[in-house]
Order: sequence, then structure tokens, then C-alpha cells
Amino acid sequence: MKSKKPHLSLVCFFILFSNVVSVYSQGSAATDAAVMQEFKKQIINPNPLNWNDPDPCKWDKVQCTKDGRVIRIQVGDQGLKGTLPSNINTLTELQVFEVQRNTFTGPLPSFSGLNSLQTILLNGNGFTSIPNDFFQGMTNLQSVYLDSNPFSSWTVPESLKSATALQIFSAYSANITGKIPDLFGGNTFSSLTTLHLSFNNLEGPLPSSFSGSSIQSLWLNSIRGKLNGSIDVIQNMTRLTQLWFSGNQFSGPLPDFSGLTQLEDCNLRDNSFTGLVPDSLVNLPSLKVVNLTNNILQGPTPRFPSSVRVDMLDNTNSFCLSQPGPCDSRVSTLLDVVKDVRYPTKFAENWKGNDPCSRWLGITCDGENITVLNFQKSGLTGIISPNLSSITSIQRLILADNSLTGTIPNELTLLPNLTELDVSNNQLYGKIPQFKSSMVNLTNNFFQGPNGNGNKKSSTGVVVGSVIGGVCGAVAVAGLFVFCLYRTKRMRSGRVQSPHTVVIHPHHSGSDQDAVKITVAGSSVNGGTTETYSCGSSAPGDLHIVEAGNMVISIQVLRNVTNNFSEENILGRGGFGTVYKGELHDGTKIAVKRMESGVMSEKGLDEFTSEIAVLTKVRHRHLVALLGYCLDGNERLLVYEYMPQGTVSRYLFNWKEEGIKPLEWTRRLIIALDVARGVEYLHGLAQQSFIHRDLKPSNILLGDDMRAKVADFGLVRLAPEGKTSLVTRLAGTFGYLAPEYAVTGRVTTKIDVFSFGVILMELITGRRALDESQPEESMHLVPWFRRMHINKETFRKAIDHTIDLDEDTLASVSKVAELAGHCCAREPHQRPDMGHAVNVLSSLAELWKPAEVDEDEIYGIDYDMTLPQAVKKWQALEGMSGIDGSSSYIGSSENTQTSIPTRPSGFADSFTSVDGR
Ligand SMILES: *[C@@H]1O[C@H](CO)[C@@H](O)[C@H](O)[C@H]1NC(C)=O
Ligand SMILES: *[C@@H]1O[C@H](CO)[C@@H](O)[C@H](O)[C@H]1NC(C)=O
Ligand SMILES: *[C@@H]1O[C@H](CO)[C@@H](O)[C@H](O)[C@H]1NC(C)=O
Ligand SMILES: *[C@@H]1O[C@H](CO)[C@@H](O)[C@H](O)[C@H]1NC(C)=O
Ligand SMILES: *[C@@H]1O[C@H](CO)[C@@H](O)[C@H](O)[C@H]1NC(C)=O
Ligand SMILES: *[C@@H]1O[C@H](CO)[C@@H](O)[C@H](O)[C@H]1NC(C)=O
Ligand SMILES: *[C@@H]1O[C@H](CO)[C@@H](O)[C@H](O)[C@H]1NC(C)=O
Repeated sequence: MKSKKPHLSLVCFFILFSNVVSVYSQGSAATDAAVMQEFKKQIINPNPLNWNDPDPCKWDKVQCTKDGRVIRIQVGDQGLKGTLPSNINTLTELQVFEVQRNTFTGPLPSFSGLNSLQTILLNGNGFTSIPNDFFQGMTNLQSVYLDSNPFSSWTVPESLKSATALQIFSAYSANITGKIPDLFGGNTFSSLTTLHLSFNNLEGPLPSSFSGSSIQSLWLNSIRGKLNGSIDVIQNMTRLTQLWFSGNQFSGPLPDFSGLTQLEDCNLRDNSFTGLVPDSLVNLPSLKVVNLTNNILQGPTPRFPSSVRVDMLDNTNSFCLSQPGPCDSRVSTLLDVVKDVRYPTKFAENWKGNDPCSRWLGITCDGENITVLNFQKSGLTGIISPNLSSITSIQRLILADNSLTGTIPNELTLLPNLTELDVSNNQLYGKIPQFKSSMVNLTNNFFQGPNGNGNKKSSTGVVVGSVIGGVCGAVAVAGLFVFCLYRTKRMRSGRVQSPHTVVIHPHHSGSDQDAVKITVAGSSVNGGTTETYSCGSSAPGDLHIVEAGNMVISIQVLRNVTNNFSEENILGRGGFGTVYKGELHDGTKIAVKRMESGVMSEKGLDEFTSEIAVLTKVRHRHLVALLGYCLDGNERLLVYEYMPQGTVSRYLFNWKEEGIKPLEWTRRLIIALDVARGVEYLHGLAQQSFIHRDLKPSNILLGDDMRAKVADFGLVRLAPEGKTSLVTRLAGTFGYLAPEYAVTGRVTTKIDVFSFGVILMELITGRRALDESQPEESMHLVPWFRRMHINKETFRKAIDHTIDLDEDTLASVSKVAELAGHCCAREPHQRPDMGHAVNVLSSLAELWKPAEVDEDEIYGIDYDMTLPQAVKKWQALEGMSGIDGSSSYIGSSENTQTSIPTRPSGFADSFTSVDGR
């Protein structure tokens, strides 16, 4: 405190005085009187107030308590000039302070600590600044008016937070800068009804804390204001009656107003709103005034009820017509499309009128038909709209270089004339739909290969989804190639490399028969070698099928062999498709599993790709072999070896209806052993362990020799290396599910052991895992079996009556029952592994010793080898010469033609096979 010598004693008094105040923070009638005298002294023209009495409590417009504490000062509209005393916050009992619309100047003193103050009216003066701690400790503050003061720029201080009782905060034309502080939400101010911040220098977005606030009157209007971003948050400000947002830079679509049931006055003019005027605003019953002029609103001109005063000057928006009424259907469709990218400003500004073919930005037409959408580098965020499928005339769709996320909608495959889809340089992920005849540029996104190669940003260049004829036909050549090799190997010799890139050059040999030259850019150890093979079609009428590898078979071939998927060829229907029997020209039978087409669910596609990935890697005599597959448009087909005797469930549960003999115990035992071996193999694969997850009798197939193979690997997921369990999507079939899997989705090999135990119980009892024809208490096989197994008497009754129960058989059945009980132990760690099951069952089966024929010898394929191992073996066996064209096989000439796609040049290098490499 600065002072001059003569006033030294006074200085001392003041120091003492302020110490008292700061220690006790109480004040007294005397200190209040002193402050009031100081206030009077600082008013240059106090005459109108008539403040002459020595006791300020007797002054006009001042009110005190009985014991002389000042509680109200109300001197608004008195034409006063002057400044406020700096120690005003010693009036600790003050409740109301009103000096509005005078000519007070200078800095506002701090009012901090005035915890009785309820109302402050400072608006309409010449105050030049506001201290940062102004609101500190004002726990009873209800109304603040700071409007129209020439403050130096300030931001709403955090100290306002202590004013939790706040109802009105009004500070328009108050030179507030920066963002709207994130503190006006309902959590801090549960009673706030009025927030008036018009004509300041606010910028940036609406704070998210507005969501759920109790504000009724919100003024943020300005002239050339800098508030921007979306106003979505207001859809949660359901108490609003008055919304003044005009003159800012708000953008994006208008939100849903349906929750704002009290909104009367909505001023949104002079912003950059795009998109349609929502019906929720047009039909809002409470609405009385609406201003929409000077935005870039699109779609039909809204028709508000006549009760609403509408300010919406013509041609100051981008409505399709100046009168209410529907837009051209192409306009509506385009708006549906850009809705999913929040109606970008760039398009709203440029799409004027009702004819998209009148040189609209990014749109090219042929006559009246939209043929090209080029939205490259348009700053798009959001998803690729499934509504694009309504623009049926579209040929090229360029969405490159944006920030699109989500997946490519399957609907796009419905576009009949789409030849090019470029989504490069976005943030897309997920499954890639199968396009029939489109070139698809997927570069630089987050797509995951069908092998589940993780989320790495793909940098593998272009995947050309498919070219006329489908992936199917195209990749068929890779299959053919392997087939050639295989055949040739059997004839004598061959050279094998993993076919990563396949380039096809159709050439005419001059003969009647077409020949195909296949170039394989191998990725062998010597690297980069390119070798050329010729596969002449020397054996017309022969098969088109291949017997090893990752083989794609053309849909034409599959149509031919299944009699165009005729009803008569149906072998069965599974959860996600129908299985057809097919017969190749040489009489070899195959099973073609055809997925539901068209409505291919995500699940189905997952299962399909995982099935391919698994089956092409796994070979075992007790696992059904995948011979090939086909992806063509929506078609997804798997070609399996044919298992003539069908499913085990057929023999176990349906033998009567089928007119077949029920299985003898020895058969059941051998089937159990076969299954155990197949599953043991799956679990024991050194590199990658597979968990089947859907073991059940309808997934176990029988050959003519009644030996069993495990089928339907659709639910198998690759277990990550080094991990024995993974939490994953719940799959499998109810009744066979291990309890921990059903509850937590936790997957270990032990869930297969559990399902296997259930299958053993079914083999023993001839009853289904879940039999709804049974009374409640015996519906579920596992608990029922456990109960029956407790003593010999009941156990005998539980055994399938068709089993001839001699003493040996009963002993054998009992051992298997014991094993089944172990396998179905509640705790995964109490269950044995499949190796144990194999040991138990093989020791029992030994006793009968069925004559085992080794298929391996017959087919020359060691099913216990994985495909790469098999390929290695063939390489090792490789003879002196290359493939002998004359001995290799392609197929009949008409099939050759359908399976060799004609591809535009330039695609070859970027072509990759469906496994994504
Ligand atoms: C707002 O504050 C800035 C900086 O403090 C000042 O230059 C400007 O004149 C003020 N504006 C008004 C309208 O008072
Ligand atoms: C809002 O304005 C600020 C500058 O005040 C700018 O940095 C920001 O990108 C703008 N945001 C939007 C959504 O336009
Ligand atoms: C509206 O409130 C709901 C529920 O609190 C919240 O989930 C949603 O994000 C809010 N919306 C906006 C735009 O703030
Ligand atoms: C909003 O529209 C109403 C009705 O046309 C009009 O009276 C009012 O002045 C408009 N307000 C603004 C800020 O344009
Ligand atoms: C536009 O498409 C329709 C079918 O949708 C077709 O009949 C018409 O010929 C096309 N017009 C032009 C100019 O291509
Ligand atoms: C697709 O293209 C053909 C040939 O140009 C044309 O006749 C047909 O109308 C187009 N289809 C659609 C839906 O525009
Ligand atoms: C795919 O997109 C990338 C990046 O935009 C580009 O470099 C590449 O040439 C495109 N490929 C084709 C075949 O158009």
C-alpha cells in the first residue's frame, strides 16, 4: 500500500484493519459503515442518492440488518459516475449488489468471499476489467449480470464453479474470449436457466457439458462469431426455450430436436449448417419463431406450420427447390449418401438446385444417369454409405484420400455397372465384400486378410477383388496349377513353389484344344524365379478338381457337377448352407457346401474364411479333407471329399427313419477313437493349435468303411501361438458347450474335450445331448448321464437298448462311460487331454482289432502331413524334368474357357489370391 508520510497513522490503522478482516473474515457494522463511506466518496456525483445521514443504514437504496450489517445496495439507473471501492468484499453480509446502467468505470474489485451474495448487477457500465478471483467463494450466488462493459478481454474464470446455486449468468458484449468453459453443465450448476454470452469473442465448439444441462435460454449469437463445430449436444438440452446461435460458424447437420419440447425461439441464421431441416424441428409443437436464413441447408424447403414465424430468406440456403416439395429422387439419394459423412460443407455449397447432372461437384453423368462419384480428397469423415447402392447407374466410385472408417458395405456389390471402387487411403477395416466385376483399390486401410493377419495397415498394394468372372474363375487357374503339379507328380515329376502371384497368359496353340500358359512368380528360397509351365487340356471329359492345396474351383464346374445345384443333389442342410452331392466326370463324388447366397451374414463369411484357412492347412485321415473352394459374388462354396455314409447322428438317432441298422458297440468305439484321433491331431499341431469348438455327431461323417472323419471346421479359430486359451466369440451348439465356454466364452482345447465327452455319452445312450421330448429333469444328457452312472443298475438302463450287452461289451461301455465322465468334468483342468482319450479308446478297440486299411497307401497322400509338408515332400520326390505338359490335365475345352478370365492388362501385377498375400 502506497502512502504519504502525513497519513502514516491511518496506514497503520488500515493494516491492522485488513489483518482483522483477513483473519476472521467477519467484518462488523463499523467496517461496513466505513466501506459505504468509501463507496460514497468514490462516486463523483452522489447528489441524486441523498446519502447524507452519518449512518449508511439510513441511506436510500441501502438495506441493513438490525445490527447494522449492509445486506442490499441497489443503485441501478441513477446516472452515477465513479469507481467501486476496492474493499467491497468486506461487506460480508451483502446479499444484493446492483449498480446497473450507470457510468461506473475502472477495474471491478474482487467480490471473492461474499458468500451471502445472491445477485450482482454490474451490466451497462464502463468497467474495464474483472479480476480472476471475482467469483471465489460465492456459494449463494444466483444471478450475475456483467453485460455491456468494456472489459479488457477475459475468460470466464474457474472460480465461478464455487457458485453452485447459479441460475442466471449474463455476460453479453463483455469481451469474453476463448472457448466456452466446460463448466456450465448440470453437474456443476443444477439450477442454471439462463446463459447469455452473445457478442463476445468466443470461439471453438460447444462444450460437451451442455449435454443434460438445465439451461432454458442460451444466447451465443454474434456477428462474425467464431463458435464452430457441430451443435449435436443441444439435442440433450431438453429444457431449452430460447436458442440464439446466429452469426457464428456452426456447421454440420441440425440435430434431432424432438427432445426439446419447450423450445419456442430458435435462431440459427448466419451459420454454415448443412443437410436437411429435420422434421423434428419443423413439427416441434412448442416452436414459435425460427430463423434459418443464410446457411447451406439442403433437401426440400421446410414447410413450418403457420403458427411459426419463419425467417428464411429465399436463396440463402441450398434447398433443392424454393418452394416446399420433394426433391428429384437423384438429389434425395445423394443426400442419403452424404448423410453418412455428415453433409460436407463443400458439397452443400456446390450442390445447388434440383439436378445433380448440372455439373455438381464430384458428380459425372451420362445423360440423366449418374455414372461417376468422385469424392477423392474431400475431407470425408464417417462411413461409406450403404445408400450408394441406390445409385444403380454408377460405374466409378472414387472415395480415395479421405478419413472414412467402418467397413465397405456389402450393398455395393449390388451395383450392376460398378467397374471401379477406389477406397485407398482411408481407415476402413473388416471384411471385403466380393465384387463380381469391379476393380477395387484397397490400398492403405486397415483391412484384415481372411487369414486374420491382424490389424496392420495393409501395404500390399491392390487387391483386385475380382475381374469379370469372379475371384472364383480367376484364381481357379492357381488351383489348376496345383492340380497339374499334383497329377504330374503322380505321373512322375514336378516342380513346386508356393503360388503367390499367378499371371495367366492365354495363348492359342493352334490346335483345337485351348492351352494355357501359367506363369508362377514363386517365392522360393532362390527368390524371384519365374517359371513357365504349360498345362495342355489333353484329357477332355476329365475332372476339373484338384486334390491338394489352396484351390479355387470355378462356379461353372460346380454347377455342372451338382446338376446346377438341383434339389436331388442335396445331401443335407447345415446352419449356414446346403450341402450338395457332386459327381465328376470320372465318377468321383464330392460334397459341395453352398452358403446361403445373397443374405450372407457376417457370421457366415467369417466361418467360410476360417474354414478355408483351417482346412487347407490341416490334413489328417480323420478329418474331412477340403478339396477346393469358390468365391463368386455372393456365392461361397466349399468342396469336400464325399462321405457316403453321412453323419454319425444319422446312425445314432435317426436309424429307424432312415431304415438303417443301428451301430454295434464296436463300431461306436472305433468311431469314438477316430474322432479322438482327429481332434488330438487338431490340438497337437506343433505350430498352430486348432480348437474345433463345434464337435457334435452331425459334424462327424462316415465313409463306406464306417470310419469317421471330423467335419465342419467353420468355427475353428486359430489359437494364437504360445497361448492355450483365448476369449472369443461364443460359438458352438448348445448342449455340447463346456460350462466355462458358455459362461465366459473362454476357449481352450478343453472345450473340445467336453464336447467329445458329450459325444461319448450319446454313443453309449443313443440319446441326444439335448432332447426336448424328454421330461425336464432328463432333457440335458450330461447331468442325466451323471445321475444314471452312479450305480450299476441305473447305468445299465441308460445304455442304448440296441446295443447287445454281453459281459465284455458292458465292461467296455463302462470304461468309455468313465472316460466320458472325465471329459465332461466341470473344471477344465479336471478334463483329460485328447491324447488320454485316444489311449483309453485304442486299448479298448485293440480287443476287437478291426481290419484297418491304410488309406494313405491307397491315395498316396499322407493325411497326417500339413499341406506345406506335403508340398515339401513332393519337391523332394521331384524328378529330373519339369512338368510334362502332355501328362497334365486341365479339363474339357469349354470348361477351360469359363475358368480363364479375361483380364484387362495392367491388373496382373497387383493381383493377389484370396488369401490376401
Ligand atoms: C477487448 O479486449 C481487447 C484486449 O484486452 C481490447 O483491445 C478490445 O478493445 C476489447 N474490446 C472491446 C469491445 O471492449
Ligand atoms: C473451429 O475453429 C478453430 C479456430 O478457432 C479451428 O482450429 C477448428 O479447426 C475449427 N473447428 C471446426 C470444426 O471447424
Ligand atoms: C446425449 O446424452 C446421452 C445420454 O447421456 C449421451 O450418450 C449422448 O452422447 C449425448 N449426446 C450428445 C450429442 O451429447
Ligand atoms: C428471427 O426471425 C424473426 C421472425 O422473422 C424476426 O423477427 C427476428 O428479427 C429474427 N432475428 C434475427 C436475429 O434475425
Ligand atoms: C439411364 O438409365 C436407364 C436405366 O436405369 C436407361 O434406360 C437409360 O437408357 C439410361 N440413359 C442413358 C443416357 O444412359
Ligand atoms: C448399365 O449399363 C448398361 C450399358 O451401358 C446400360 O444399358 C444400363 O442401363 C446400365 N444400368 C443402369 C442401372 O444404369
Ligand atoms: C491404388 O491406390 C494407390 C493410392 O491411392 C495408388 O498409388 C495406386 O496406383 C492405385 N492402384 C490402382 C491399380 O489404381
